[in-house]
Amino acid sequence: GFDKCVKIWCSDELSSCDRAGKTTQATKLFEYLQSLGHPVKLWKFPERKTLIGQVIDEYLKKTRELDDKTIHLLFSANRWECMSTMKEDILNGTTLIVDRYAYSGLAFSAAKGLELEWCKYPDRGLLTPDIIFFTDLSSEDAAKRGGFGEERYENQSFQKKVRKIYLSLKDPTWKILDARQSISELHDQIEKMSLTIIQKCKELPLKEDLF
Ligand code: TMP
Repeated sequence: GFDKCVKIWCSDELSSCDRAGKTTQATKLFEYLQSLGHPVKLWKFPERKTLIGQVIDEYLKKTRELDDKTIHLLFSANRWECMSTMKEDILNGTTLIVDRYAYSGLAFSAAKGLELEWCKYPDRGLLTPDIIFFTDLSSEDAAKRGGFGEERYENQSFQKKVRKIYLSLKDPTWKILDARQSISELHDQIEKMSLTIIQKCKELPLKEDLF
């Protein structure tokens, strides 16, 4: 049988400070699966090292201006350019943990006022995640965790809009977790659900039908 499992890690809190604990949890899950001897890789989007990724990086650091639709398409292209590598890994039985993916693309662009259906289209047909963990934190609680960073989008009023859109997008593959819990409490839940889904995915074919 197959052993294919993509895990997508989403969060409404999108700063380098990681106030909702998204990157912390992705890393902990990665280390945990590795300790079990399970083949696993950790991805993060945007993947800033590629040519497209460098343009995105400049945009986020505010050294480059681009209109909202252009940057939306670049974020999507940045995922597409990684698909063949990710697909190969999955077909080889590797579990992928992905820190941000297409839902970040939707939530951020829609929060700027772009139409949701328009935003979805470029990501149609991407590898489909088997489970999505959403570490949810109100913008007020997020602000209490420390100052916002310097990058674009890192301010409370915008984050509030983004969270609202994330929560309106949820589908049955989403697991919404209360990010006010401790790091280990969150990790325990993620660990259990991940082991279950990895088992289940062994019997399932690869899915490339996002949106
Ligand atoms: P990071 O802080 O996790 O590196 O994410 C970079 C920023 O880019 C974050 O504010 C979320 C945003 N983003 C989008 O606007 N669209 C996308 O498709 C992705 C992946 C991230």
